[in-house]
Amino acid sequence: MDSQPSTTATLVHLLLSFSLLLLTLPSSSSSSYSSSIPAEALPTKSGYLVVNSTSGSSIFYAFYEAQKPISSLSKTPLLIWLQGGPGCSSMTGNFYELGPWRVNHAIQLEPNDGAWNRALGLLFLDNPIGTGFSIAANSDEIPRDQPGVAKHLFIAIQSFVALDPVFKSRPIYITGESYAGKYVPAIGYYILKKNPKLPPNQRVNLAGVAIGNGLTDPVTQVATHAVNAYFTGLINDKHRIQLEEAQNNVVKLVEQKKWSEATDARSEVLQSLQNMTGLASLYDMRRKIPYETYLVEQFLSNRDVKRALGVNESMVWEDCSDTVGEVLRGDVMKSAKYMVELLVKESKVLLYQGQCDLRDGVVSTEAWIKTLKWEMLSEFLNAERKVWKVKEELAGYVQKWGGLSHAVVLGAGHFVPTDQAVHSQAFGTRESQIVKTGFSIYIDLSK
Ligand SMILES: *[C@@H]1O[C@H](CO)[C@@H](O)[C@H](O)[C@H]1NC(C)=O
Ligand SMILES: *[C@@H]1O[C@H](CO)[C@@H](O)[C@H](O)[C@H]1NC(C)=O
Ligand SMILES: *[C@@H]1O[C@H](CO)[C@@H](O)[C@H](O)[C@H]1NC(C)=O
Repeated sequence: MDSQPSTTATLVHLLLSFSLLLLTLPSSSSSSYSSSIPAEALPTKSGYLVVNSTSGSSIFYAFYEAQKPISSLSKTPLLIWLQGGPGCSSMTGNFYELGPWRVNHAIQLEPNDGAWNRALGLLFLDNPIGTGFSIAANSDEIPRDQPGVAKHLFIAIQSFVALDPVFKSRPIYITGESYAGKYVPAIGYYILKKNPKLPPNQRVNLAGVAIGNGLTDPVTQVATHAVNAYFTGLINDKHRIQLEEAQNNVVKLVEQKKWSEATDARSEVLQSLQNMTGLASLYDMRRKIPYETYLVEQFLSNRDVKRALGVNESMVWEDCSDTVGEVLRGDVMKSAKYMVELLVKESKVLLYQGQCDLRDGVVSTEAWIKTLKWEMLSEFLNAERKVWKVKEELAGYVQKWGGLSHAVVLGAGHFVPTDQAVHSQAFGTRESQIVKTGFSIYIDLSK
């Protein structure tokens, strides 16, 4: 099925693997060689973080140390990645988007040019319990709302930091995509509230948060699909009016606090838009086929891969868990905006979107930014939107004021790191143009 790589490619691969090996700390979880996951591609650490010692419910994690740290490891930031859903596994982020190794069509790992763990340690968490390889001892324990999600995440982050003294003092940035547009503010907010009540050595060293193509204030965002599609030329005026009626219905259900019905009505809006446009995927209007996350599913069905990651072979990995999706159905339309309002004041927030996403894209994010209760909002809205370049190439636009940065990534859909690996990597480096434009959320090590 797959062809043999050329000698040159093999040599390059060996050299790359060798240099990565030198730059990576030894794996603590497993050093066993497996045919389907080369030793150099193993996470630095992976396994489980117990969130409930009574029941044994645990969050699965995979951690990759920084490949080229620009300071001592004890000062090198940690970046936590949370996938969306609700109920989708961060292993999709890891092996399809921003991790150091991605799965190719031959279901093998290839080094990722745009890996986000260049200057940062990168921690993927399968959140909430019941998602990906994470374990929910029983479905009653799966969180039903964002405070519940945050409570488990906080325990998981504390136990991760306790695994190695070198983690203790490192600044922590929390990021994620899509439905993590709620998880990320939820854990950030929880940390800001919880830290002052804890002795200093138990606090989480939060330095900032970032949300990619997020669903954060769903009631504002759902009202933007019709105009967005109309002005993109994808639907006509009649469709626009139909869609607006359906959107208004979602808003009405939210006002009546009929949360699950509102969630279903939103799904219908998106289905109508899909039907009207005939697009392969609303996640990226340019795509001829949907994102190929099944590659990750095939890769993670391999017993040797599971064993190498520290996962019980009998576990079946799913891209997204229907059980978790169902438990959080009543949460989908609830807003996490008030949590962002605290984070812009007391921490740093980056919102970035791929330009071609029709679900949680630029227009839908700008709509709720405008409604933030924040004393610096008008300064932010009047701040210059700067052209952002990576190596002389146009990469997008950045706008920043106070604790808030907004970045638009050109030529990308919902999965920004999949579509613009190298441009998106700028979020994980210090030297890049994005820093010069004043956007420095992951990078500012001075605080
Ligand atoms: C831990 O698990 C027990 C047993 O299922 C449950 O009663 C308790 O509520 C759980 N605690 C948390 C914090 O989830
Ligand atoms: C979308 O199209 C499918 C297939 O034709 C149809 O079954 C479904 O009812 C449509 N949904 C909406 C919301 O228009
Ligand atoms: C893996 O899970 C199965 C089924 O729950 C269990 O019987 C087995 O003991 C587990 N194996 C290990 C190594 O934990």
